[in-house]
Amino acid sequence: TNGARSSHRLRHVSSLAAPPPSRLNAVVLGDALASEEHDLVIPKPDFSAQAHFPSPAKYLDLYKQSIEDPAGFWSDIASQFYWKQKWASPVYSENMDVREGRINIEWFKGGITNICYNCLDANIAAGNGEKIAIYWEGNELGADATLTYNQLLHKVCQLANYLKDIGVRKGDAVVIYQPMLMELPIAMLACARIGAVHSVVFAGFSSESLSQRIVDCKPKVVLTCNAVKRGPKVINLKDIVDAALAESAKNGTVVDVCLTYANESALTKESTKWVEGRDIWWQDILSKYPNSCDVEWVDAEDPLFLLYTSGSTGKPKGVLHTTGGYMVYTATTFKYAFDYKPSDVYWCTADCGWITGHSYVTYGPMLNGATVVVFEGAPNYPDSGRCWDIVDKYKVSIFYTAPTLFVTRYSRKSLRVLGSVGEPINPSAWRWFFNVVGDSRCPISDTWWQTETGGFLITPLPGAWPQKPGSATFPFFGVQPVIVDEKGAELEGECSGYLCVKSSWPGAFRTLYGDHERYETTYFSAFPGYYFSGDGCSRDKDGYHWLTGRVDDVINVSGHRIGTAEVESALVSHPQCAEAAVVGVEHEVKGQGIYAFVTLVEGVPYSDDLRKSLIMNVRKQIGAFAAPDKIHWAPGLPKTRSGKIMRRILRKIASRQLDELGDTSTLAEPGVVDQLIALADS
Ligand code: PRX
Repeated sequence: TNGARSSHRLRHVSSLAAPPPSRLNAVVLGDALASEEHDLVIPKPDFSAQAHFPSPAKYLDLYKQSIEDPAGFWSDIASQFYWKQKWASPVYSENMDVREGRINIEWFKGGITNICYNCLDANIAAGNGEKIAIYWEGNELGADATLTYNQLLHKVCQLANYLKDIGVRKGDAVVIYQPMLMELPIAMLACARIGAVHSVVFAGFSSESLSQRIVDCKPKVVLTCNAVKRGPKVINLKDIVDAALAESAKNGTVVDVCLTYANESALTKESTKWVEGRDIWWQDILSKYPNSCDVEWVDAEDPLFLLYTSGSTGKPKGVLHTTGGYMVYTATTFKYAFDYKPSDVYWCTADCGWITGHSYVTYGPMLNGATVVVFEGAPNYPDSGRCWDIVDKYKVSIFYTAPTLFVTRYSRKSLRVLGSVGEPINPSAWRWFFNVVGDSRCPISDTWWQTETGGFLITPLPGAWPQKPGSATFPFFGVQPVIVDEKGAELEGECSGYLCVKSSWPGAFRTLYGDHERYETTYFSAFPGYYFSGDGCSRDKDGYHWLTGRVDDVINVSGHRIGTAEVESALVSHPQCAEAAVVGVEHEVKGQGIYAFVTLVEGVPYSDDLRKSLIMNVRKQIGAFAAPDKIHWAPGLPKTRSGKIMRRILRKIASRQLDELGDTSTLAEPGVVDQLIALADS
């Protein structure tokens, strides 16, 4: 019978070390086990019937193939893309074990392709030139625009031609500091077309952060916009860029050109500060360039982009992704995790300044020829019904967002699949998303992944299997997650520990820009033989994965990764701050909030003004999104005798779990704990 065959498969897969959904088939096949489970959400039969993966059996079959023969599995998929020249043999090579030498991951090396060509030209050649590529929704009600695939290609080519004209060549870096205008994905695609390496900096970062990123990759040109309205507020981006470029020049990096899109709904050209000879208006110059542009063919392993992300030490890390593997991986994960069909209208609320916007606003969807909604504004402007309106207006059928956004209430008939990303989603938020937003009809893809992974690693395939609210479920094809204990020993069955990945997948990052050693020590040294994600995870008796959050000094605020060390160094740079320690605390809306303990220079009195000025320092050095929610005055910090700050205790104080402080006797000065508690609400 079907059941017998499936359970045979299950046994087979489980011997492959990746955690198999051990009882999944039995559950789906409706045998007695199902009734034991009260927390299962079974996919609707009519959804499953039309899904790419209608049953666990089909997933398990393909998963098994993908693990037993990654080269065969991925080259079959890669063959569906356009390659100027096919990759050489082997399909991939890797060393993920620091004990065996340098970490090295390569996929499809020798293959010659171009991701922009695959996003645009290939879809146009397939007859989709007149299909809508982008529905753009502006900040203000009624401000909108569309681009077909043909029109998008023309815009991309004009910019690509301009960039070539000013001397940008294959391998050169281009920094993009743009809000969510159509010009942001256009800029990314134009760089990709000519083989330039884009480094998008989220337009909420401060001038100092922007400058740091400019100095790191030394671009010839910065692409920006004069200003943007987010909600009721105008942000003068060009001022921030001017300050960043001045700062960069002081540090030896002079940028020749600042190409500025005139967003006159936010600020007129006349009111925009201008540096003659360096600054160029986007619209004025690009219209002079032809709207077709030859593609620069690149190797699969040529870099596609840099994206900086926070780690547990102060300096942001430039995560580097290459072309071929990233292309194949983002396209495939997009298609299957969202059960994408050509008739879908897809909206991901992420900004292209983060990895989600790279992989699942721009590349993944466009490689599939999808229609994508790009939204400039804020989800609660002019009111909290805005998302609801947008879903309705464009008949969005796949909606991908961060749990933080769930506070906005809406439910629309057009929705088919929901997606969640960025932070663990708790079961009650999951149920709310499912019942209210999705009308108990739409499966939820809770996608677990990271800037470093390029695309989803653990994600449901909608329609394939029963969901458990709050679980990201099972690994994507080719991905072998393992949970290890402190010593790096792999845990089997029901367990809880550190989430690692064994062997590479095509979308994996290849290095940290300019610092391969840091790449090796940060990700591959903690548990030799594995990629270490920095996340905690447990696996239940059925093989479902439950992410439990970061286990390092990284805070996840509204799905944005912020290193505590970065916030601390911004605080300490304030002349009146002697020392600072930052921890994450649970936050109703943002997932986690930033909680800072601050010790002042001796003799400086506590004041609200000083609080504000400390917070200002963080906004200036990192960006508004990293501003601490709370400054807690600390006459001293709890430290061990060797001077290490005991964050465990600070976390308990921050979350007011005062009866769980644990052993404080090993502190150098146990008295500081009482002092901190006394000042908690001052
Ligand atoms: O802690 C995990 C959390 O976000 C981190 C990655 O952040 P970033 O590189 O900025 O990428 C965010 C978008 C992929 C992870 O280490 N995270 C991401 N997705 C989930 C998640 N935590 C739980 N569940 C998720 N679905």
